[in-house]
Amino acid sequence: KTLIILISGRGSNMRALLEARLPVDRIIVISNNPAAEGLQTAATKGAQTICINHHAFSDRTTFDSALADEIDRYQPDLIALAGFMRILTDDFVFRYHRRLMNIHPSLLPAFPGLHTHKRVLDDGVKIHGCTVHFVTPKLDHGPIVIQAAVPVFPNDTEKTLADRVLKQEHRIYPQAVRWFLQGRIRLTENTVFIADTCV
Ligand code: GRF
Repeated sequence: KTLIILISGRGSNMRALLEARLPVDRIIVISNNPAAEGLQTAATKGAQTICINHHAFSDRTTFDSALADEIDRYQPDLIALAGFMRILTDDFVFRYHRRLMNIHPSLLPAFPGLHTHKRVLDDGVKIHGCTVHFVTPKLDHGPIVIQAAVPVFPNDTEKTLADRVLKQEHRIYPQAVRWFLQGRIRLTENTVFIADTCV
């Protein structure tokens, strides 16, 4: 089996996936950002790394089609977005329908988009968390695979809250990807079911 991980920056979720000893034959890491710290980490962990600099493309469509051409060379079973900071075109999303996952730092459908920890603190929310979901054209709205909740404490800062959530991200993303690779995920239009045994 082949897993492709798309990153743009630090790559701590990618690292969690690389360290999870997933049932795959190969993992390929692709970054849109040549300076992504995660590229270095991936290389030291023995993963194949590829960079497709989005600045080299005139628009989203040409970048996405170059990205898809590269991805298709490997015929991946699953593509995992791990801090990939580019909005993908609908064409790209449809092309990888049912095999494109994302990790988002909030309990979706609450707080889609950016700066989730700050918005949670500003709104006085008491329970926060993270979500792994399949990607659909509507940003941060696809079928949910798994979520983890964490408390928000009165003295939390963005940093303390982000750290608490990130710990859970590193736990649930490998779990979701493992379920997928084991064939345990059944996806209807909007809902994900996890089977107890392999199907
Ligand atoms: C994570 O919080 C992830 O949920 C979000 O972007 C951040 C990426 O962090 N999509 P990292 O690059 O995995 O360390």
